[in-house]
Amino acid sequence: MLTLGIDTSCDETAASVLLDGADVRSSIVASQMVHADYGGVVPEYASREHMRAIVPVVRKAMEEAGVSYQDLDGIAVTNRPGLIGCLLVGVSFAKALAASLCLPVVGVDHIEGHVVSVRLTEPETPLPMICLVASGGHTEIILVESWDTMTTVGRTRDDAAGEAFDKVGKLLGVAYPAGPAIERMARGGDEQAFDFPRAMMSRDEPDMSFSGLKTAVRYTLERLGAVPQGERLSDLLASFQAAIVDALVTKTVRAAERYDAVSVGLGGGVAANGPLRQRLTDEAEARGFRVVVPDKSFCTDNGAVIAAVGHRLLSQGEDHGAGMTVSASRHRPVRGSE
Ligand code: KG4
Ligand code: ZN
Repeated sequence: MLTLGIDTSCDETAASVLLDGADVRSSIVASQMVHADYGGVVPEYASREHMRAIVPVVRKAMEEAGVSYQDLDGIAVTNRPGLIGCLLVGVSFAKALAASLCLPVVGVDHIEGHVVSVRLTEPETPLPMICLVASGGHTEIILVESWDTMTTVGRTRDDAAGEAFDKVGKLLGVAYPAGPAIERMARGGDEQAFDFPRAMMSRDEPDMSFSGLKTAVRYTLERLGAVPQGERLSDLLASFQAAIVDALVTKTVRAAERYDAVSVGLGGGVAANGPLRQRLTDEAEARGFRVVVPDKSFCTDNGAVIAAVGHRLLSQGEDHGAGMTVSASRHRPVRGSE
């Protein structure tokens, strides 16, 4: 069964062709550069860029997979959560393509896509699993009892982890998205040089908070009078990064213990962060959990994970058809006129 997966939820136009829900035949991602100077995604620019990119990106995914539109068995598209104008581009395109080919089309939850990057990496991942999804818009700890039974058991109360990276990047004049550059600049820095806060760390608190950390970095920069340079900048960023990694890893491992998980997984753009991947692996493995860390290309936004979730829905006979709607949030009804 050949599934075309499409994601236009934020600032990446992505398409992928997936064979039998597991074999990635192609995965094309066009990242938008227009947001670099703004410290975050400008929604209106993002939807316009998706309109420009969607046809060439899908065409390239089909070409690279070496298949024709007539070979497809169904189409999967992210329809929640995300920026409404951006979601509408992908969903309208997917619905039109499905109608013209007389194919079923299903709407996919973007966060579920990030979780399923673990299954694409390791199809035999034993369940139950606790999966940390940390991206630019969301930070959630999810209990995966089966691949279609996922429950959020912890989340950020304010900023997402990626948002904290991006906001600190903006303070330093680093182009958006700042996560990869901050990771690079923090390399070799002393994680203990600056004492940044870890919020909401009591043992029975499943949620997280990152907005105080960003403010602490801002106050530190104000106190220093100027953005530090060289080693001192590495120290500052290493200390900031360690505070985020500390909170994410501690909460994830505690959830795995609390819910008697067998595995621990990781997904979302921030999951591309080296120190986070390493620390979560070390701490979860030390407690006997099976740890699955997906390839970085499956962590940041892509169409393959959307196709993988879509494959399951299509196999169950679902078709959300022309009535499919979009939703900015995760948990609102999205099908037809519900
Ligand atoms: O999942 P994603 O590609 O898009 C959303 O769904 O938001 O995540 C993008 C986020 C951005 O905030 C970016 O700064 C962050 O992931 N990110 C990183 C790294 N690579 C991407 N954060 C820290 N370290 C990285 N290496
Ligand atoms: Zn994402």
